[in-house]
This record gives sequence, C-alpha cells and structure tokens, in this order.
Amino acid sequence: MDKIVIKGGQALHGEVQASGAKNAALPILASALLADGTSTYRNVPDLADVTTMLKVLRTMGCDAERDAEKTDVCQVGVNGHITPEAPYELVKTMRASVLVLGPLVARFGRARVSMPGGCAIGARPIDQHLKGLKALGADIHLTEGYVEATAKQLKGGTVNFDVITVTGTENVMMAAVLARGRTVMENCAREPEVEELARVLNKMGARIEGAGTSIITIEGVDALKPVEHAILPDRIEAGTLLVAAAISGGDVLVKHVVPEHMDALVEKLREAGCTLTAENGGLRCKAPDRLTSVNITTTEHPGFPTDMQAQLMALMSVSQGTSVISENIFENRFMHVPELHRLGADITIQGHTAVVKGVKGLSGAPVMATDLRASASLILAGLRAEGRTDVSRVYHLDRGYERLERKLSGLGADIRREKA
Ligand code: EPU
Repeated sequence: MDKIVIKGGQALHGEVQASGAKNAALPILASALLADGTSTYRNVPDLADVTTMLKVLRTMGCDAERDAEKTDVCQVGVNGHITPEAPYELVKTMRASVLVLGPLVARFGRARVSMPGGCAIGARPIDQHLKGLKALGADIHLTEGYVEATAKQLKGGTVNFDVITVTGTENVMMAAVLARGRTVMENCAREPEVEELARVLNKMGARIEGAGTSIITIEGVDALKPVEHAILPDRIEAGTLLVAAAISGGDVLVKHVVPEHMDALVEKLREAGCTLTAENGGLRCKAPDRLTSVNITTTEHPGFPTDMQAQLMALMSVSQGTSVISENIFENRFMHVPELHRLGADITIQGHTAVVKGVKGLSGAPVMATDLRASASLILAGLRAEGRTDVSRVYHLDRGYERLERKLSGLGADIRREKA
C-alpha cells in the first residue's frame, strides 16, 4: 500500500493545471448506456473511481476503455447485449456505481444494482433516487441486497425531492430523458456537475431545461445518440490546489478552472486574507503573511462545498483566531480531526460543528487517511508542518485526485510517494 511522504515548509510557487471533474465524469460515463454506439469523452481524470466505473460498464457488456496513448480519453461502446446488473463487488468499492440505475431502467426496462451501504462519511441512503424512479413508473424491489427496478416504459411525472441530492438528481434525470412525456423535478441539486450531465444528455438529443436551478423540466424522447464531449474542470481539485498555495504561504496559478463554480471558496479564501485573481482561464491564490480565521458552513451548491471542508479545516488550523466549521451535508465528515490533532492542531468537535483554534505551527507525524477529502486535508497540513509527515492509506486519495503529489512537487513541495 502506498503512502505519501512530505517534508513541510516549502512555499509553493508556479502554475498547475486542474484535471477533469471526477463527479462529472462518473455520471457522464454511466449516461453512455442511454444510446447505442460509442461515446467518446475527453479530459476524463485518471482516477481509481473512473477505473471502477469503466469496470462496472464492462461487467454489463459495454466496451468501456481508457485510451492507452491519450490517457484523458475514454470511450464507452454500447453495441449488442447488455446485462443490466451492477454487482456488490463493484458497488461496495464505489457508491457512485448506483448511477447506472436510472439509465438501465430507462433504456433496458430492467436494472439490478447492489444497494450501496453506508460509507465512512455517513449513512448515505438512496431513498430519493428510488422515490424519483417510482414517480416515473418503475417497480422497485429490494431483494438479497439488490435494488431491482423494472418498467416496460417509464412515464414522465413530478418528482419533488425531500432532500437535495446530487447523484439522486442525476439518476432520475438520466431516467426521465427516455420516459414518455414530461417530467418535472423539484428541489434538485444545482451543482455544476448536474448541469454538465444535462449538457451532455442534451448533446445526445435529450430535451432538458433548468439544470443548474432547483427545477428541471424534461421532455422525454424516443432515443438518444452517442456523444463526444470534454469533461469540465474539477472545482474541488482546483480548490485543493488553491488551499495548498494558501497554507504553504505561496503564490500559485491554477489553470483550467471555471472561476464562477468556485465562488464560495474564493470568498472564504479572500476573507482569510489571500489574494485571489482570475487570470488566463485560471485562478491565482497568493497567501498573506498570516492567515485569518473564517467561519464555514457547508451547504449545497452554490454554498460552501462539503468536499472542501476538510481542506479548509487544515488551513484554519494554522490561521490567526478561532474558526467555527459546521458540516451540514454528511453526519460523519470530521474523521480528519483526530489525525490533524496528531500534527498539533487544536480542534474541538461539538456535534456537527468543529471549533478550530489556530496554532502557530504544526509538527509532522505519521497520519492515516480515512476518506478522500480527509486525505487531501492531511497532505495540505503536511505541506505546512515542520518535519516529516507520512500519510498512509493513500488509496483514498487516488480515488479522486490525479497524481496530486506530482502536481504539488511541480510547485516546489518536497513530497513523494513511497511503497509502505
Ligand atoms: N441523501 C438522502 N437520500 C438520498 C440521497 C441523499 O438522505 O436518496 C442525503 C445524504 O445522506 C446526504 C445528503 O443527502 O446527507 C447529500 O447527499 P448527496 O446525495 O447529494 O451526495 P451524493 O450524490 O452521494 C455527491 C458527490 C460527493 C459529494 C456530495 C455532496 C458524486 C459521485 N459524489 O455525492 O462527492 O460530497 O454529492 O456534494 O457526485 C467526494 O467527491 O469526495 C464526494 C463524497
């Protein structure tokens, strides 16, 4: 198992490019199931989660591969017989495998998908996905740990989500594009990745309006065609790199970003004293002499993203003052806190709130990653800590960051990957 070894204390400088967005790539790859033929995607990040989604698609009988030479290109071919089933062995390694449920039932009239269990950050039920599919006329049964959904022909309907859910919105949207008639989805997630999926579906011939707002309207069509598309940049990876600049006392331009997708983070970094400027299709973050503590409350987009909470907590652990960080999306997303304690951070958890008292410095230590964004947070803290920090269980990091250690070493960090 690999680990990341960091010797802290280098201020990062230079330019780095954000990769394609994991959380857009996953539903978009699943959406290839909706058309016969081969879809081609560019700017697909080379991540463990994307590899898993390609495997899920191959298990069903699709030709789903990453190009050996142009490694940002993936093709998914749906030509011939499909077994509409996502097995436990794959879903247990990645919950987002559940994104095949909507496309399968819409296109093949049947889906058998292992029910995802809880994960480290929370229980994460999929009741809203199922509620939406039922509203479109799918019969849903749970047997032997599998969700079985059937429908001869889905019919448009009204879906009012009780909870705002990103993949739930995406799953139901992918089902509704081939339903007969009009679907109105209310209380939808407004994340840029939902909008991006709708963009791809519309390129395939779907008729979706309102994606990116809380009401999405879809006129069902009879068939979709394959598509060619370049995936939008990853706002969370880009945000993590901006925080790397801030925590190390550096000055970094992150290229290939969509600044308006990152407003909530940019606002908080400015409030903390950083100078943020839009430059050449990128965002530059220049750290101040001393960071100031800011409060953070995670909410659905366009609010502050839960996927940046752990990274901001690392930053606040060395800022001047006290920061109150409230996590409102997932019930157990503070697992980085005990590990940050090992580096000398002063953080107290009260329910879904963490109170972070900024300390002057951190001191390197061996730490363990517990989930994807927690691992990023520990690497960021390691960049700032005096001495050596070893972050183990890096497989969490590899699920969602493309060669993060190489990007950081390109900016001057003393960081390397080692076989543990
Ligand atoms: N929820 C329900 N019922 C449902 C669905 C969700 O109660 O049917 C609850 C969840 O338990 C959670 C809240 O609603 O408390 C929001 O969950 P959501 O469904 O929006 O999360 P998700 O779709 O499973 C995606 C991202 C996550 C990101 C969240 C929130 C993908 C593949 N994953 O998950 O990304 O944290 O939205 O923005 O898009 C990550 O990249 O590190 C990651 C965890």
